[in-house]
Amino acid sequence: MKPPARRPLLGVLAAAAALSCLLLLAPPPRLFPSSSSSSTRAPTSPYAHRPKLLFLLAGQSNMAGRGAPTSPLPAPYLPHPRLLRLAADRRWVTASPPLHADIDTHKTCGLGPAMPFAHRILLSSSSSSSSPSSLPAPSTVSDPGGEEDRLVLGLVPCAVGGTRIWMWARGQPLYEAAVARARAAVAGGGGALGAVLWFQGESDTIEVDDARAYGGKMERLVADLREDLGSPNLLVIQVGLASGEGNYTDIVRDAQRSINLPNVILVDAMGLPLSDDQLHLSTEAQLRLGEMLAQAYLEFESSRDPKAIESLHQ
Ligand SMILES: *[C@@H]1O[C@H](CO)[C@@H](O)[C@H](O)[C@H]1NC(C)=O
Repeated sequence: MKPPARRPLLGVLAAAAALSCLLLLAPPPRLFPSSSSSSTRAPTSPYAHRPKLLFLLAGQSNMAGRGAPTSPLPAPYLPHPRLLRLAADRRWVTASPPLHADIDTHKTCGLGPAMPFAHRILLSSSSSSSSPSSLPAPSTVSDPGGEEDRLVLGLVPCAVGGTRIWMWARGQPLYEAAVARARAAVAGGGGALGAVLWFQGESDTIEVDDARAYGGKMERLVADLREDLGSPNLLVIQVGLASGEGNYTDIVRDAQRSINLPNVILVDAMGLPLSDDQLHLSTEAQLRLGEMLAQAYLEFESSRDPKAIESLHQ
């Protein structure tokens, strides 16, 4: 449960799995069929080739999602035809939780923030009257009926539970996998990146040296991602830690607040309800976090470019 800083990745994953999942969550299989199993392989979405507004989901367990599923699932966790997920095999499928089932494979994944985030943005895009649009740039023929112009969201899950920020440095497997998946998502007119949603740092609160190095490593990560994705203004939305595995949560939270880079914003999860393990956000908390992230994204886009939100309202 308290792996030393440089234990190999699998050790960390196993340790965190033991910590976080097995006792807490045993989701009913009928709710969460394994999307990595070939027998339940989701079909490719009919919207797969449409330009999408893309969001990279990265970090550790609270981004992957450990909220216990309820039956029935809350509406913001239900599939929507224009809400897609890049599967581990890089096909676009209709998103349904758990979004990280074939990515964060050493854990039992549950509910995270990205489904309610995405639903909120889809709702915002459809709740106003149509207006001329420019984002995400439709590359297809215009369709007066509107269907061609409707916003399609593409979620790119990359989070892995129990990971420390050094594992997300350029050159490390998690970082390289995330960049490769983001590039695959954008390739061939696949769409444009709207933001990176980053929820990580709980595992960097165990060792004081990790906590103190957090800010510098996070700034490096943002710079490297922007460079490697050719997106110098890429929006990064960090989630302020609601909990930590160790005693240095405040140091990491201070580092998160102190990131001094343009287009990096913070949505603070502190105070949202935690599960019994005092580490993972509950389903209710993830629902609220998803809303908060969407609100932050929409506000940021409208302040950066007042037309951007209009253009979402296609
Ligand atoms: C946090 O501090 C307490 C009290 O000093 C100590 O017993 C505990 O082991 C520490 N936790 C971690 C994860 O280092």
